[in-house]
Amino acid sequence: MSVRQLAVLGDHQGDVDAIVGKYPNARSALIPLLFYVQSVQGHVTEEGMRDVAQVLGLTPAEVLSVASFYTMLKKQATGEYLISVCRNITCTHLGGRKVLRAAEERLGVPAGQSTPDGRFTLEAAECLATCDGAPSLQINYEDFYKVSPEEMVEIIDKLERGDEVRSVAGEAIQTHKDVSREVAMTGVIEGHGNQEQGARTVSGEVPPADMAPGFRPPVKGHGAKEDPDA
Ligand code: FES
Repeated sequence: MSVRQLAVLGDHQGDVDAIVGKYPNARSALIPLLFYVQSVQGHVTEEGMRDVAQVLGLTPAEVLSVASFYTMLKKQATGEYLISVCRNITCTHLGGRKVLRAAEERLGVPAGQSTPDGRFTLEAAECLATCDGAPSLQINYEDFYKVSPEEMVEIIDKLERGDEVRSVAGEAIQTHKDVSREVAMTGVIEGHGNQEQGARTVSGEVPPADMAPGFRPPVKGHGAKEDPDA
């Protein structure tokens, strides 16, 4: 039987190996690889899910069952800037629906859709766990607090012009693809395959052998056979 060519991940073998190499069990790389597909294609495509299944030795149905569960893994084309406006109780009381309406009018699309140029996707979100900043919203998962309808329009204007926009935490807003890549590559030392470098922590330290991924202490009891030579 001929081996299917990887349609999406084929040109990214180095990154794929580095992501899979972070984990003692390859299937633990499932969610990071789905984020990687999203970073390449802008959303999690069917071809991308088939690639992930092939790389990890899973069925496409197993991959879909995970991809369809997490809302941050987008199955529809998603813009460079994903604007998520909270529509839950606290934000609604403090004007969140007006902020959402202002975004809809400015972008010319209703919540749940993307602009025709593919730059913006607008969505109504449930509680973002930042109720003290209500009305709250996120752009590519960076927080904005106490946003007025006018400020919403101003932020979109800036993003459209390519001006820098910073969240309440002072983070410059990156594109949705860049954020997806950052999530996928967390813990990977860029430019070095883990096989070459050995295991390292996120901050680059080399852990001792018994703290490295894949180390399993000898287990006694629970049906384990005693080593007669021990
Ligand atoms: S209700 Fe909007 S962040 Fe909680």
